[in-house]
Formats: sequence, C-alpha cells, structure tokens
Amino acid sequence: MKTQKFDSIVDLVVARSPLQKKKLRAYLARRDASFMEEAESFANDYCGYLESQKIPLEFAVSAYLEMCAMMMRCQIEFMKTGSYTIQEHSQAFEETYSNKEKMTSYMIGLAISQFLWETHYEILKSFERATETYCPTVDSYLEIGPGHGLYLHKAMKLLKPHTRIKVIDISPVSIAITKSIMAHFHPQRASISYCTDDVLKHDTEERFGFVVMGEVLEHINVPQRVLVKLNKLLEVDGRAFVSTAINSPAVDHVYHYKSVDDVRVMIRNAGLEIENELVLPVEDLPMEEIVEKKITINYCAVLKKETGHE
Ligand SMILES: C[S@@+](CC[C@H](N)C(=O)[O-])C[C@H]1O[C@@H](n2cnc3c(N)ncnc32)[C@H](O)[C@@H]1O
Repeated sequence: MKTQKFDSIVDLVVARSPLQKKKLRAYLARRDASFMEEAESFANDYCGYLESQKIPLEFAVSAYLEMCAMMMRCQIEFMKTGSYTIQEHSQAFEETYSNKEKMTSYMIGLAISQFLWETHYEILKSFERATETYCPTVDSYLEIGPGHGLYLHKAMKLLKPHTRIKVIDISPVSIAITKSIMAHFHPQRASISYCTDDVLKHDTEERFGFVVMGEVLEHINVPQRVLVKLNKLLEVDGRAFVSTAINSPAVDHVYHYKSVDDVRVMIRNAGLEIENELVLPVEDLPMEEIVEKKITINYCAVLKKETGHE
C-alpha cells in the first residue's frame, strides 16, 4: 500500500536528523502492513488537523526533533548525576505547562512519537484494546492530562453519544490543544467538560466508569497521591488505563521511578489492582542489562479497585 503522507513525515525526520535514520528505518522495516495502514491513516488525519491550525508539517517535524533532543540532553545529565533535571512540579508548570510556545511544540512532538517510537505505539495499541473493551458500555469517561488530545480522540470513536465526558489538565495549553482536536475531529460533540486544574486539587464527588491517565504519574512530586485520587474517582466496577515511565528523564519529569516494581507497589498501596500490564523497555536488550544500565522502560496497565476497596 502507498504510505505517502507517513513517508513524507519520516523522510523529513531522516533528512533533518541523520542520527535517527538507522534506528527509525530499522524499526519501520520490522513493521507489518497493518501498521503501515494505520500509520498512513494517522498521518493523513494529523496533517489535516495541523493544516486546520495553520501549522506547517516542517514545524511539526522540528517540534518532534526538538523533543528528542531535549530528552537526549536530560538523558546525558541523568547518566552523569543519576537524577532527573528537575524535582518540582511547580517548576515544570512555570517552565513548560504554562509556556504556550514550548508546550505546543512538546505536545505536537509527542503526538508524532506515537507512530515513530515503538514503545509509544505499543502503549497506544494497548489503550485501543482497553477502549474497545470498556468504552462502548461506560456512561462516564474521565481523562487526566490529555496533553496532545489523541487518546481522547481515539476513545471518542467508541463512546456512546450521551456518555458524560470530563477532561482535567493543569496546562491551559494542553486544554486548548485537546479542545482543538475535538473541534476538528468531533465537531458534533459539544458536551465535554474541560477543567484547567491540578488533578490533586480538583474537588469533585463525581465517579467515572473509565479513567485515562497517560504519562502523568512521573510528572507529580508524590504520584501515590494521584493514584489514591484516581481510585476515588473510579466507579466501583470502573477501569483505569494508566501509563508511566521508569528511568525516563525529561524537562517535566519530577518523580524518578527506579523500577517497574516501584510502580506496581504504588498502584497496590493506592488500593488498586493490576488487571493487565505491558512492560516496554526502549532498547532490545536482556532485562538485566536494561535495569543495570538504567535504560528507560515505558509501562502501561489497566487498573481496577482492589476487591473490598469501594
Ligand atoms: C506527557 S503529557 C501526557 C499526554 C498524553 N496523555 C500521553 O499519554 O501521551 C502530560 C500531561 O499531564 C499534564 N499534567 C501534569 N501535571 C498535572 C496535574 N497535576 N494535574 C493535571 N494534569 C497534569 C500536563 O499538563 C500534560 O498535558
């Protein structure tokens, strides 16, 4: 099949960053026809969205490369010091979440990484499976930290027309991006409640059948508190899709998970059970080496309330 649009993104990335060429081409060579079909459909949809926002593809590719370079800088520092670049959520808010230019660029870069990074793609597929299982029947959906808005866009295709939908993000920029994604792809859906708020400070008695919290835990000083809050926000039979990253430095990552077990213990201590999970190291090496070299591991899981925890 022809993958003209996706190829144009890959070609621009490779032309601008010869460093990425070998790894990216090797990754794409391992992908099957159904991946290519999906990647092309994503590229067409996302480029259509960018065009509607008057954002040139070249800008989007620069945003992606800037995000990769930022992560590389943080990684080098992490290798030297063993610590993340920042330790305070308030600093991430001041320097990143509230900065329109920086956050817009970051979220566009992250959106593109969904198909260019193997681990992000696997998490997206896992999210897709979870939404296919739960979204068609739930009456309420909450997303915490939608960022680029693509997860909500995916879920929206499966949610019933009258499902109660709420979105919470501390970044006004992420909320604006998510709104624009909804306006572009789901213009008929008017009744979404958007809250620009810190999830920890968000005061509500509402409960939700499905809660999504992708890559938020590592952004919080005490992520255990968010998991406890997530538990409180879940209906008794509800499910949550959560992802995070271990040994993963970035300009806005403040909590350093040192192992997958760190994450699992925190989940259980919050009264939640892991229904299924994916552990995704970013390098194809034996797990012993991944741990020893502190190589980033992406992680996602479907969670439910621990029996008896209502
Ligand atoms: C890395 S992005 C995640 C984007 C997307 N969910 C994903 O998985 O790719 C993290 C998002 O969490 C938001 N965030 C960080 N701290 C938060 C908090 N305390 N309350 C609500 N949102 C928060 C950020 O503004 C950002 O939009």
